[in-house]
Order: sequence, then structure tokens, then C-alpha cells
Amino acid sequence: MQASAQAPGACARRSEVVCSSHRCGLGSRRGVRVTTAAALKGVPLPGVVPRRQLPPHLSPEPGRRQLRPVAFKEGEEGGEAAEARVIVVTSGKGGVGKTTTTANLGMSIARLGYKVALLDADIGLRNLDLLLGLENRVLYTAIDILEGECRLDQALIRDKRWKNLSLLSISRNRQRYNITRKHMEQLVDSIISLGYHYVLIDCPAGIDVGFINAISPAREALIVTTPEITSIRDADRVAGLLEANNIYNVKLLVNRVRPDMIQSNDMMSVKDVQEMLGVPLLGAIPEDQQVIVATNRGEPLVLQKKLTLSGIAFENAARRLIGKQDYFIDLSNPQKGIFQKLGEMISF
Ligand SMILES: Nc1ncnc2c1ncn2[C@@H]1O[C@H](COP(=O)(O)OP(=O)(O)OP(=O)(O)O)[C@@H](O)[C@H]1O
Ligand SMILES: [Mg+2]
Repeated sequence: MQASAQAPGACARRSEVVCSSHRCGLGSRRGVRVTTAAALKGVPLPGVVPRRQLPPHLSPEPGRRQLRPVAFKEGEEGGEAAEARVIVVTSGKGGVGKTTTTANLGMSIARLGYKVALLDADIGLRNLDLLLGLENRVLYTAIDILEGECRLDQALIRDKRWKNLSLLSISRNRQRYNITRKHMEQLVDSIISLGYHYVLIDCPAGIDVGFINAISPAREALIVTTPEITSIRDADRVAGLLEANNIYNVKLLVNRVRPDMIQSNDMMSVKDVQEMLGVPLLGAIPEDQQVIVATNRGEPLVLQKKLTLSGIAFENAARRLIGKQDYFIDLSNPQKGIFQKLGEMISF
């Protein structure tokens, strides 16, 4: 099926678009417990740098939403970002690949030499730790920080493979806490103050309070969708909500693309999806059973010795995200056949 319909209001709106065990009890022993009420009154959270103490160039105060994407010099590995980038990975619809995308883009950007923090904003249903193989190392969460149980650096888990990649989970499964937008902004400001170049926020599905909290510290967004009409409609709704929340720097990642189905007109092409949504395309990821294998192994696809096409596609999306690649790779070069077809389908 070729898309002919246009999402209501898509063009008008997007023409303005400018371009995600056990507890050792250390925290308590060190006497760092503070109440949430105190934290909200401006008392510094343990390990959290209050916003007013942030260096001026990291201050998220007026105008932060209008930040432009950071420009990097070509070939500059791990270059100093002029401004930390906070990107929420969102979709509206559940199960379309937000967490997979966050893990793979985060790992790729870290491998390029940048300091990357991944924030799992899915309260109660976290799983980014599983995809990264870090589940046994989540001793503390952001809720523990807010409750004064630990410091930020204790809850930020460093990946052993790439030490410039860290993970912060908002909560343990079943852990309950009334997280607010202010908490999220405080947490992200504090992460940035530790020198991170990129903060990727893995947004929960839906558009309720979890979504609002996850997008509130973000200055940019990546909308993940599959080429299915239900997912596209939710993505369109999310795009509108992002804009309503002053997030204008939005990009699109189309996941689970099936070239064979596109060929037989049973699936929309990436171009169709992009045109329906009117959001600039960051990348397209093919359907690949290796994604499931990688998830089960706790090793993001981009770490595989022999990259599959989806691994290559994630790496390319990561390079485009950081401004190192402004073209869509011709996927016909490394592989022939199905890969060539995919290359043709996503090229513009
Ligand atoms: N390109 C792909 N090819 C094959 N399977 C994929 C692909 N991308 C994601 N998946 C699978 O889809 C499922 C959902 O992925 P993921 O958990 O990343 O989605 P999500 O949007 O984060 O879901 P949720 O909304 O529940 O948080 C997982 O089983 C994952 O392995
Ligand atoms: Mg998820």
C-alpha cells in the first residue's frame, strides 16, 4: 500500500520544524538523606548540583528550548560539545523500538568518543538496563537519589565496555514515587554538570504524565515509529505535543522496515512515512531478528563484531544525530540484494 493520505495538519505544522540486588546503604551511612519536600524547596539533593550553581553555559534557563543542534567538526572524535544535548526518544505507541533505539544510539555515540548518559524514564517498567546487560548493577535509581538514599554518581552506572556510557534508571520495577517535571529537570541538569555531552531519555509509551515528565528536560526529540498506520498516527500526535511543549528540534526514526513488504505494496515506504509526518528523517532500521538476539544477550547490536544491516543503520543514525554524516548511506554498497532494495527505498 502506498500512502496517499496525509496526516491532518502535518505539513502546516512541520514546516516550522527547525530541523530520548542489593543495597549497600552507603547513602544512609554517609548521612545524605534529605526529604523530597526539602529538595523541592531548593535544598540540594545529594550529589545533585542545584541549577543556580551550574556553569553559565549549561544553564537551562530562558531560551534553552531554542538551542540549535551542536555543530561538530568533521572527523573530530569525541569533540567538546558547546552545549550538552538532551534528546528524548519517544513514540506514543508502545513497543515500536524506543528502548532498542536509545540503547543502540547511545552506545554508538559513546563509541565515537562522547560522554553519554542514558536515562530510563519508564517508571515501573524499566528495561533499558536489560538491553545494555546492566541489570545486575542497578543498585540505586533516581528515586533513591530523590529520597536521599544515594548520590547521583552512585546511581549512574558506567558501562564496563565503554566507560563514557552511563545509565540512570528512574525506578526499580514496582518502586513508586511521585516524580515531577521539576525532578526530571533537576536530574538532567545534574547529569550535564558531570560533563556529559549527550543525555538520551528513553520515554515510556503513551502521552500521560510519564511522557510529560520524560520530555520536560529535553531540548530535542527523536520520534520512533514503525511503518504501520497506528504507530504513525500516534507519532503524529506526539509530534504535536512536542511542539506544544516547545520542542521544535524533532527527528524521525522509522523502525522495523520490511523491504519485501514494501516491494509488494503491503507496507508504507520510509519516504511515505516521513512525508506523512513531515518530520526530518534521522534514519530507517530494518526488521531484524538479531535485534531480539541482541536484547536477550544484553549487548546492543552496534557492538556486534560483524554488524548486521540494522546495526549499520543504527550506527549511521547515530552519526547523523551528532552531525558527522549528513547523507543517507547507500546500503547497496556493503551488501547486495535485499540491502540494495532497502537502500533504494530509504534514499531521497
Ligand atoms: N528493528 C527491529 N527488528 C526486530 N525486532 C525489533 C526491532 N526493533 C525492536 N524490536 C523488538 O520490538 C520489541 C519492542 O522493542 P522496544 O522494547 O525497544 O520498544 P519500546 O518502544 O521501547 O517499547 P515500550 O513502549 O514497551 O517501552 C522488542 O522485542 C524488540 O526486540
Ligand atoms: Mg521501552
